[in-house]
Amino acid sequence: MTQFSILTQPILTTTAEAIIVPLPVSKGSFPNSKPFHSIDDALGKALTDLYNRKIFTGKKNEIHAVHTLGKLNSRVVICVGVGETKTLTPEVLRHAAGVASRKLQELRATSAVWLLETLPTPEKWVQALVEGTFMGSYEYTDCRSSVETTREGLKSLEFALPKASTAATAALRSGGIVGQAVNTARTLANTPANLLTPTHVLDWAKDQFKKSSGVTLEVIDAKKAKSLGMGLFLGVAQGSVEPPYMLVMRYLPVKGQKPVALVGKGVTFDSGGISIKPSAKMSDMKGDMSGAAAVLATMVAVTQLKPKKNIIAIVGLTENMPSGTAYRPSDVLTAMNGKTVEITNTDAEGRLVLGDALCYVVKEGAKEIVDLATLTGACSVALGDVAAAILGNDQALVDRWLDISTTTGERLWQLPLYEEYLDYLKSDTADLVNASEGRLAGTCTGGKFLEQFVNGTPWVHLDIASMMHYSSTSGYVVKGMSGVGVRNLVGYILGPANAVVRQKKSTRKGTK
Ligand code: BES
Ligand code: ZN
Ligand code: ZN
Repeated sequence: MTQFSILTQPILTTTAEAIIVPLPVSKGSFPNSKPFHSIDDALGKALTDLYNRKIFTGKKNEIHAVHTLGKLNSRVVICVGVGETKTLTPEVLRHAAGVASRKLQELRATSAVWLLETLPTPEKWVQALVEGTFMGSYEYTDCRSSVETTREGLKSLEFALPKASTAATAALRSGGIVGQAVNTARTLANTPANLLTPTHVLDWAKDQFKKSSGVTLEVIDAKKAKSLGMGLFLGVAQGSVEPPYMLVMRYLPVKGQKPVALVGKGVTFDSGGISIKPSAKMSDMKGDMSGAAAVLATMVAVTQLKPKKNIIAIVGLTENMPSGTAYRPSDVLTAMNGKTVEITNTDAEGRLVLGDALCYVVKEGAKEIVDLATLTGACSVALGDVAAAILGNDQALVDRWLDISTTTGERLWQLPLYEEYLDYLKSDTADLVNASEGRLAGTCTGGKFLEQFVNGTPWVHLDIASMMHYSSTSGYVVKGMSGVGVRNLVGYILGPANAVVRQKKSTRKGTK
């Protein structure tokens, strides 16, 4: 476990093994270059030389280690590029911290200090740096038979600031909670589907949400789901031998306040069912519970952050499998709110799981709802792997989410919920089909389907399918499941005043 702390002594007195220096593209463009020069001078201008020879240019995520060979107490100075100081954002530093954390691992450093005094508003980057350190050094090793255990790991990471402050100390703590929650979500999603069935998630949740945690856990098993009328959810689950569960987590610290609701798609494996998926990349569908993973990990963060806000969270956990008992195209299922759905494609199962989960939180009196789901492949077609989609029935709420995402760095892009999309979902036999014919506006029709189950409650739907998985490692991004959604969810729960460094408002709203 790494200890995080603030260092206020002059940087040259440090005995940390590594000094990490964030460096801009133009040397000398820092607001305060004194600490940089003190290191550069001690190293016989080695850092200046790197710039002069263009060995290091300061562009984002560039990294270069200079061995001090006894010229400093520290054995290595790690230069990390941050681009232009004028356009510095927490996201740039999250990535820089990710790159640096892997360099520290490579160099077997057990202690390090970040030199922040050269940056504008130094203390404002602390939370992002802690988050990036956790995320960048993440590795999923649970299934390896041998892991390098001799490595000591990073024991201490300090942040050199001109002065200590309660804000900086709080940033260390919340950065750690958020970073670890992202990694928790990644591990849940990375765990193979045979090792993470709905029952395994239930056991995990029982362990996390004990009485002392402040979050109560209610388990809706198949029998209870049947009595509640959750026909859509049970329809998906009927093809699997694994028992399905809806898990309801309640965190209600404020008397008489309607809760906000967090809803997650938790399909622990999506084979497509009878409308089976092609085999290429089907294994990625172990991550089809990434929405649930984000919600569960956020609730773990809630037990630590203890916000003054009532929250009800629900995750629908099931497999989607083909079998003799599986639901089939042409089946008609009835949702908890009485709406009937003709199944036209058993691979459009996420919206069925969520349909009943949304009905549940509406019945519980949620004042606002957010759902997270790896809902449509079309989301990647629309946005690539650089943003998730947001759709909603209340523009003010959508705008709040867009605002949160500029702060947390988890990009969202709004897609519409035009009335006409409901025509795409017309059925000859039931109230709705679960999947429209053809391939038009796949993410929007998915959202439109969900809207039928929120009964007008202000709601946003985050289709995170595009961001579920990273195909390579860079910055804080580590190849594998992304843990997307946690940072935005925590930002939403804490509210704008408590989120990390505020940035320029979204240009959508016309502010500069
Ligand atoms: N889980 C998938 C969507 C998905 C695809 C997530 C790729 C992450 C990566 C979802 O259940 C699905 O199969 N959706 C269908 C919907 C269609 C049948 C209307 C899709 O996207 O093809
Ligand atoms: Zn599917
Ligand atoms: Zn799915």
